[in-house]
Amino acid sequence: MKSIRIRDLQEKKAKSEPITMLTCYDAMFAKILDSSGVDILLIGDTLGMVVQGQETTLGVTLEDIAYHTRMVARGAQRAHIVADMPFMTYQHDIKEAMQNAAKLLVAGAHSVKLEGGTPMASTVKALTEVGVPVMGHVGLTPQSVHALSGYRTQGKTDESRKRILEDAMALEAAGAYAVVLECVPESLAQEITRMLQIPTIGIGAGPACDGQVLVIYDLLGFNPEFKPKYLKTYLNGAALIQQACEKYVTEVRQRVFPPME
Ligand code: KIV
Repeated sequence: MKSIRIRDLQEKKAKSEPITMLTCYDAMFAKILDSSGVDILLIGDTLGMVVQGQETTLGVTLEDIAYHTRMVARGAQRAHIVADMPFMTYQHDIKEAMQNAAKLLVAGAHSVKLEGGTPMASTVKALTEVGVPVMGHVGLTPQSVHALSGYRTQGKTDESRKRILEDAMALEAAGAYAVVLECVPESLAQEITRMLQIPTIGIGAGPACDGQVLVIYDLLGFNPEFKPKYLKTYLNGAALIQQACEKYVTEVRQRVFPPME
């Protein structure tokens, strides 16, 4: 089966075909999501929150992402695999960013994603020049949660809007092949999508983006308390899994399972 390459993603933008992206953290989900036709699987640092149970993404390590990338790469055959670069694994210096990105590619990623715009442009340029494809991420950048005073929509003032637009343009100029727009007003996402040649992939950024991304456990309704306005849950996952496990507990206790020979 032919796997999705960066050129395919860029052709999708040219043909106005929406790009689909989901987070994925293990081989079993990778196999299912791959078969469902998702274009991009992201080993997101959200794994710190949804898999590891941490409050933020800040404690996720490069080894965590590499470990989950190896699992996803074993399960997926078709999707493009992007691995997130965790907090402070690319911000110090370019050489360190290169060494860390290389570890994620060796683990099975086809490209890396990093947060930040203009200040990250030289790092993005250096990575792309040595053959590491980079997806950018602007707007709400969760690794800056404390600097942003929480998880809130960005780009609401003229100044912040201008900065995010400049950030996205700086990433494109530096060689990024796509950019995630997280929690920005729809009109800003539309403007950026129109200005850039590379695809924009939105989360909480409205329908004008070239593609959409969601955290897989959010889409499946694993955490009913998490209800951001942008989220659509496609399954009542938490309730269904709980019901199944309750049935198992009851059947074992009642000696219904396993059945008598
Ligand atoms: O880490 C992640 O899962 C992400 C997506 C929400 C875009 O960056």
